[in-house]
Amino acid sequence: MNVRGKTYRAVWMPGRDVVVIDQRLLPHRFKLLRLRNHRETAEAIRNMTIRGAGTIGATAAYGMAQAFLEGVSLPKAYETLVTTRPTAVDLKHALDRVLVEAHDAKTAVAVAERIADEYVARMKRIAEIGCPLIPKNGRVLTHCNAGWLAIVDWGSATAPIYAAHRKRRGVFVWVDETRPRCQGAHLTSWELLNEGVPHKVIADNAAGYFMRHGDVDLCIVGADRIAANGDTANKLGTYEKAVLAKENGIPFYIAAPSSTIDPHCPNGDSIPIEERSEDEVHFVGETRVTPRGARAANPAFDVTPAKYITGIITERGIHKPGEVRKLWRQ
Ligand code: MRU
Repeated sequence: MNVRGKTYRAVWMPGRDVVVIDQRLLPHRFKLLRLRNHRETAEAIRNMTIRGAGTIGATAAYGMAQAFLEGVSLPKAYETLVTTRPTAVDLKHALDRVLVEAHDAKTAVAVAERIADEYVARMKRIAEIGCPLIPKNGRVLTHCNAGWLAIVDWGSATAPIYAAHRKRRGVFVWVDETRPRCQGAHLTSWELLNEGVPHKVIADNAAGYFMRHGDVDLCIVGADRIAANGDTANKLGTYEKAVLAKENGIPFYIAAPSSTIDPHCPNGDSIPIEERSEDEVHFVGETRVTPRGARAANPAFDVTPAKYITGIITERGIHKPGEVRKLWRQ
């Protein structure tokens, strides 16, 4: 997508290095980072230099290709990469694909490229399929960053929004700030500004206010893992937005590629939820906002039960949550 008139993907591999946009520095600094081996690539996933389910998947696939090029032990490299973040299942699906489909360094790079390209193609389909859900002058609420930074290009939740904007349908976006890491405020707002999409960032606890006042026409969010029954893990706070949406009669959509479906998780209770450092809650930037000695809890994701989800938009169509089991594709 567009950054100061130039198009970028969130990750790519020119030669032996993996290049990513350092998402920790956005929105105030735009810096590319070169990751020189699979260990650096794994660390960039772990420390959230890059994040978002699809970008994690593509980056891990490139990391596995680097391991092939380095000639290191492939099971060890797989283990290093797969343990970086536990909830986003695209990570494992992408790594498995490289292991199964590649037989040498050259084919490993080609498989990783294919995975990244498929994300882009699938997001373009999600843009086309999801766009008609947005009414003219529609107001969409989204949570976290399920934009192009999170899934190589276009975004999952943002793809229908970008399509509607390009068709001049007058779309407007409410962007949840998404404490504690503020992916909405830092990343989604930056993306939407670059594309010229009208939006406002709102405090996380403001969504109910705007829904109750009739200011939200629909919600579209991304997913980190969709269980076989349609229960969906996404950034912490998604669940409460879905409950509020149902209470206020607002359609609530998940947008995700079929690679985010995990047929091995029967329901949301079996999705592993990443627990992150307390400090992400204690500190806003450099400033501690809790009293010294206070403890904090910091689950990174929550699960939205299928009953709150109006539909799941994949590259293959719009599905009822209960229908996703048969759609899974690596
Ligand atoms: O912790 P993050 O920033 O990786 O979480 C990202 C999200 O929860 C996104 O909504 C999700 O990955 C879907 S984006 C394709």
